[in-house]
Amino acid sequence: MEKQSKISGFYKKTPEERLEIVKKFSELSESEIETLRKTGSMEIQHADKLIENVISTIEIPLGIATNFIVNGKEYLVPMAVEEPSVIAACSNAARIARERGGFRSESSGPVMIGQIQIVNIPSRESAIQSLMLKKEAILRESNTRSQTLSRLSAGAVDMEIRTFEGIDDMIVVHIFVDVRDAMGANVVNSMCEHVAPIVEDITGGRSVLRILSNLSVRRVSRSRATFPKELIGGTQIVRNIVRACELANIDPYRAATHNKGIMNGIDAVILATMNDWRSVEANAHTYGHVTGNLSLTKFEEDRNGDLVGSIEIPLAVGTVGGTTGTVEKAKISRKILGVENSTDLANVLAAVGLAQNFAALRALCDEGIQRGHMSLHARNIALEAGARPEEVDAVVSEMIMEGKIDRKTAETIVKRMH
Ligand code: MEV
Repeated sequence: MEKQSKISGFYKKTPEERLEIVKKFSELSESEIETLRKTGSMEIQHADKLIENVISTIEIPLGIATNFIVNGKEYLVPMAVEEPSVIAACSNAARIARERGGFRSESSGPVMIGQIQIVNIPSRESAIQSLMLKKEAILRESNTRSQTLSRLSAGAVDMEIRTFEGIDDMIVVHIFVDVRDAMGANVVNSMCEHVAPIVEDITGGRSVLRILSNLSVRRVSRSRATFPKELIGGTQIVRNIVRACELANIDPYRAATHNKGIMNGIDAVILATMNDWRSVEANAHTYGHVTGNLSLTKFEEDRNGDLVGSIEIPLAVGTVGGTTGTVEKAKISRKILGVENSTDLANVLAAVGLAQNFAALRALCDEGIQRGHMSLHARNIALEAGARPEEVDAVVSEMIMEGKIDRKTAETIVKRMH
């Protein structure tokens, strides 16, 4: 019989029943099913309540970046990431930065934007005028959606109207919402959906989208650090880093990789604390469209010849709400990090992004990243070739001695050992 991915009531089944179905469909062995049955600290019943159609959980290594000083405070930074060398590079960058006092970070207020798209407007000018006259009433009505934010004198604080050239029958209303320590998606979406009918009445148009914007131009963090030239290989490296960043700022092909390096660090902390990394990614990668700078970081040589790095990045992260408070390890990661609120978290994230970017550029502008990267990657190859965890270091050393880091060499060494 032909395989069918249309499975009636899959979502209603238990994880164990789903496993049975997937086992047949994908011809999984009993030992593969046994592996899927194993979960870490998150019980399968818990996972089953977080998302849909759960069959298992998946682990990512959780490590700690050391050496961080941000705004004069020492931090150990938990990072969840599958890529070798990210945590080592980040810690190393923070060690170099701490020579000049570490990172100075600051963040704007935690203000998110909700968008209400209105189409089929009879008259754009009069719609805009009427909306601005009713602005306070719309904000007041938005604030009925969150007693918590209202109690904190936060919530909907401002409104603007966007128009688009060549599309006269459409406007977008932006509601600016101070979401305090939440990421804010839920409350902003509720506000947009709640006031959209009012906006329709006022404008005579029809609402289409009523949703948070993941571009948080009013929730931006900045960080800055000095990297002494004598600790990074001297003036030539300093100047190479400045030139490398110059390219990232104007060339989208390089900017994508440059900014990916920044997100290597930030995403890892976001994942460790169970924030929404897709939103953080989308935010970061779209920001260049409003600033005109493709690179999120900037590097300059200062009067002493040292390298000064800075980052400006929109960061919409929460320390309350969402999954951040329900997953035990995310709570523990936050405790390790020792951040009190979403602003502290954003300040550390900006520093981590800058550190990660500096580390990548320094390697790229010196000997290249492959040598360091390959010896770390070699551990993966050793594991893939069947080395036991306690044998990995020995297999890696032999591969390096033989000058060949590949699966076949690793398999031969492992076979010899066993
Ligand atoms: C690899 O994950 C990240 C880098 O490519 C970043 C960069 O090129 O700046 C090394």
